Amino acid sequence: MKPAHLYVEADHDGAGRMAARLVDEAIHIKPEIVLALPTGTTPVPMYRQLAVLHAERRTDWSRVTTFNLDEYVGVGPDHPESYTHYMATQLFSRVNLPPERRHLPDGLAPEPAAEARRYEAAIDDAGGIDLAVLGVGVNGHLGFNEPGVELSGPAHVATLAQETWRRNFPNLAAAAARMGDTDLAARPHRRAYTMGIGTILQARRIILLATGDAKREIVRRALHGPVTTQNPASLLQLHTQVIVVLDRAAAGGAAG
Ligand code: GLP
Repeated sequence: MKPAHLYVEADHDGAGRMAARLVDEAIHIKPEIVLALPTGTTPVPMYRQLAVLHAERRTDWSRVTTFNLDEYVGVGPDHPESYTHYMATQLFSRVNLPPERRHLPDGLAPEPAAEARRYEAAIDDAGGIDLAVLGVGVNGHLGFNEPGVELSGPAHVATLAQETWRRNFPNLAAAAARMGDTDLAARPHRRAYTMGIGTILQARRIILLATGDAKREIVRRALHGPVTTQNPASLLQLHTQVIVVLDRAAAGGAAG
């Protein structure tokens, strides 16, 4: 794959600053932009820099609309593991984005399937995603679209792969291991709302942000390996407007 642009920055912070610059510039160009936003450890420096740019460049978020990629089923907005809480801490408390323009699935919705449909419809009603910023899991997941024989197009409720759950909840995983509990199926936070692969690929532009040694192999396979549902990130090869932002550790041979 030849990305529309490939940026390789020195380190995690540098990659975050580059991604922030791209997002900030996109807001200046289209103040009513619709963004899809990721969570995880990777985008933390990006959000920090977006707050800096908001202050320094007077970037106005008052007409921006955001949709997060995913949220856990069964957690409320005040739960420290919820992505709603993450977004409040990392971004929403730092920029002038009106509360009614911030969208995440409602982790406490009584009917998860209906909530996923409502979320997809809300994205449609907003006119679709102009710019999606994506992280990637070490197994290639985008949002919580995990590797599998098939993927879902629209927003839906997904089950986390065991390796994803272990990585995202190391304390819970360690406790389960101590108790000799190998059946992780019923554990908390195993299900999550996620934009579907169709929702993501319909974004007009995409920034794929990945940093660190642990992402090197999956980034290489996403950009240069076969297009397969067993590596959801490889489906980005089907999109013509993907900007890839890496640090040197994640880049390895990805520039080829
Ligand atoms: C999480 C999120 C993804 C995120 C990915 C990478 O499980 N659902 O949206 O991109 O895993 O996370 P990290 O940036 O912490 O490596």
